[in-house]
Amino acid sequence: MKLCMIGTGYVGLVSGVCFADLGNEVICVDKDLNKINSLKKGKVPIYEPGLSELAIKNYRNKRLNFSTDLKKSVKDSDIIFICVGTPTKKGGSSADLSQIYNVTNEISSSINRFKIIITKSTVPVTTGDEIEKILSRKNNKKKFSVVSNPEFLREGEAIRDFSYPDRIVIGTNDKKAGKIMKNLYSPLISKGASYLQTSRRAAELIKYASNAFLATKITFINEIANLCEKTGINVEDISIGMGLDKRIGSRFLRAGPAYGGSCFPKDTKAIISTADKFKTNLSVVKSVIKSNENRSKILLDRIYRMLNKKIKNKKITFLGVTFKANTDDMRDSSSLKMIPSLSKKGAIIKYFDPTGYKNEFSKLKNVTNKASIKDAVQSADLVILHTEWNDFKSINFKNLAKGKKFIIFDMRNLYSSSKIKQQGFKYYSVGK
Ligand code: UGA
Repeated sequence: MKLCMIGTGYVGLVSGVCFADLGNEVICVDKDLNKINSLKKGKVPIYEPGLSELAIKNYRNKRLNFSTDLKKSVKDSDIIFICVGTPTKKGGSSADLSQIYNVTNEISSSINRFKIIITKSTVPVTTGDEIEKILSRKNNKKKFSVVSNPEFLREGEAIRDFSYPDRIVIGTNDKKAGKIMKNLYSPLISKGASYLQTSRRAAELIKYASNAFLATKITFINEIANLCEKTGINVEDISIGMGLDKRIGSRFLRAGPAYGGSCFPKDTKAIISTADKFKTNLSVVKSVIKSNENRSKILLDRIYRMLNKKIKNKKITFLGVTFKANTDDMRDSSSLKMIPSLSKKGAIIKYFDPTGYKNEFSKLKNVTNKASIKDAVQSADLVILHTEWNDFKSINFKNLAKGKKFIIFDMRNLYSSSKIKQQGFKYYSVGK
């Protein structure tokens, strides 16, 4: 099978590389010539552990290629995955589908034999219907089938998530397309992945409902963490106790800073917008968004109290600023709210992130990037563990502090409270 991935962002590139590794012939298309040229030289533009090595291996053995020529690539392929971005519309909350429809129009004039056109991008319910309408303006309906195949990869874990997915969801009522899709995914199904074929609209909604539910789970435990702090309970006991109930499950019950990233914030807004369109009130998701937006304020209030409400000239260090570990992605990271707010109040901020300097803070007063953990924590008054990178798990603060006793605020509950306190530091965590 010849596969064409349109869009070499996160979803397109990871899936393209992984499909090639499963033995398919894959062409990844992007209109950005620089990106395509870099990819051909083995330079992967996103930070994702293991992706670069896998891309180089498959490019060298000619299963993977890159191109800017969408029309030719579509003509040469049997299965076309649309993997372009669906960001939040400027000034609104619904998904901006302009890239999806631009690509659809281009595909439309390149259907030279039967093709399966798949939305892998996260798209609102009925987008597949619209794509089908556009394609049928120029093409006989027998020449194509529009399928929804949502992606459930997590940044930082993408290759593992692709290779060992919990489930593969295929949205189509077309028998021929369904058979081809099942065959494409057979190497993963034979390793144990569940395979679910539904209607196209259901597959589109499964993706949004899943992300909204995971965001709800995180927000729920964050609010329980607030209660634990007031009642002297350890939220980790609650997560374990709840998680042991198989109906609840233990994952995504880690309290921390607000959820961020390129998906949960955007998709929770978009599902509400879709529901509004169909005159349905998703009140739970609405309160999740509100609660998550308020989370940074709650954490900032704790920081003020830790520093006796005197922020001016206080030296505050952030360890990790990305929205989670193993990614360089800053989108909707809670650090983007906390650092500007503390800088505005006169704090002197240093940060260290394993993925380096961040442009997002370049215009802020007294915010500097440090090249090592040691440089970042030296002479600090408060050290905030913001992102749970492995690099931070075994820091010996006593050695780094050189006698100075700073406060440690562990927003990811990474450390053992007793061990840190034994070293003479004041230690705060989340939900304890
Ligand atoms: C998320 C979903 O997990 C993927 O299944 C989905 O494919 C992807 O969005 C997408 O729609 O493309 P991702 O955004 O990479 O993946 O990140 P997650 O690992 O889900 O983390 C999201 C946020 O929740 C992070 O800020 C993380 O720190 C936070 N989180 C996660 C918690 O605070 N607690 C948890 O227990 C888990």
